[in-house]
Amino acid sequence: MKMTHELGGIEWRDVSKRYGQHTVIPNFNLSIAAGEFIALLGPSGCGKSTLLRMLAGLEPVSSGRISIGGRDVTELAPGQRGIAMVFQQYALYPHMTVRDNMAFGLRNIRMAEAEIERRVAAAAQMLELQALLERKPMQLSGGQRQRVAIGRAVVKEPLAFLFDEPLSNLDAALRTRTRLELARLHKRLGATMLFVTHDQVEAMTLANRIAVMNQGRIEQFAAPMELYTRPATRFVAGFVGSPSMNFLPVQRAADEDGYCAVTLSNGATVRTAVPSFAADGAMELGLRPDAITPSADGQLQGVVEVIERLGDRTLLHVLLADGLLVVADAPPREAEPAIGATIRLRMELQRAHLFDAAGAAHHPA
Ligand SMILES: Nc1ncnc2c1ncn2[C@@H]1O[C@H](COP(=O)(O)OP(=O)(O)OP(=O)(O)O)[C@@H](O)[C@H]1O
Ligand SMILES: [Mg+2]
Repeated sequence: MKMTHELGGIEWRDVSKRYGQHTVIPNFNLSIAAGEFIALLGPSGCGKSTLLRMLAGLEPVSSGRISIGGRDVTELAPGQRGIAMVFQQYALYPHMTVRDNMAFGLRNIRMAEAEIERRVAAAAQMLELQALLERKPMQLSGGQRQRVAIGRAVVKEPLAFLFDEPLSNLDAALRTRTRLELARLHKRLGATMLFVTHDQVEAMTLANRIAVMNQGRIEQFAAPMELYTRPATRFVAGFVGSPSMNFLPVQRAADEDGYCAVTLSNGATVRTAVPSFAADGAMELGLRPDAITPSADGQLQGVVEVIERLGDRTLLHVLLADGLLVVADAPPREAEPAIGATIRLRMELQRAHLFDAAGAAHHPA
């Protein structure tokens, strides 16, 4: 039963939010097509919940307009916006059964009982809650409670679903399972979904596009792999990917054949695959851990401080002479260096990014 949601597009136009003198969102613009699964990803305090709450009508905007399905909803009450929100705290009514929790919002707007029954039954089937309908929240696990909270949103048959960190109270295994359920739900309903999280794995696995936010601004809005392979800024490069990208301070040297060359802090000059661009002086060379591997002919040398064995990969934390700690990815089956050993590391310069003084990224061709 795929519903059609041509009307589920969302747009923020020049939206700002101030609390007293404190500007939380300076000027926000974002447009989401109907049916998209979008993640707002960013560190704590960057304004994700504020944006969602303004969209839901729980918080007024300071300026700007918000529209849903082409209709300006900036002044509308939450119940008139055609959206449903699921929070981190699922806030079910403890004295009501699962069935009544799901039906409550619909009874409030005086929907016919037969229609309520149909919707609750459909949502219960979709979320595999049929056997739990007569239970109270106390008699459910955390994951089941979160499914009920999602069910409460589903029965509204909204144009768009808003999720504010709905998985962060669940344990790791349950989080993964519920994440898959959300992906399936999106596929089945085809509704617009907007998902707020500071967990990049959640954002990367669920969303078809991700807005990476920093201090109330969008740093980059792109598909998951685009963010990973071509991060627009130093911030995105450091935030997306785990473990984080390594950043080595370097000085721009004379170009070689139209490509940037840089001088490392150990004095060596290396050529990158980044086409020449206008900027000189201090910059940073960015390399993912799997672009740095132990090798006798490596350009870097340092002392092994920590070894993390993850099974499919082994991470070496290596302290360079200039005090910089880099994380290198070593194939797990190779003979492991000892802690305290001095080793050489090879940088795969074909995959190195450059970040100029302004934080803008320059990628290999
Ligand atoms: N009612 C309020 N009064 C003043 N400042 C507020 C208010 N609500 C939020 N803020 C501030 O606005 C900023 C953004 O808050 P918001 O809750 O949107 O962040 P968030 O990105 O959702 O963070 P988290 O990941 O921790 O949930 C924060 O600096 C916060 O302190
Ligand atoms: Mg929040």
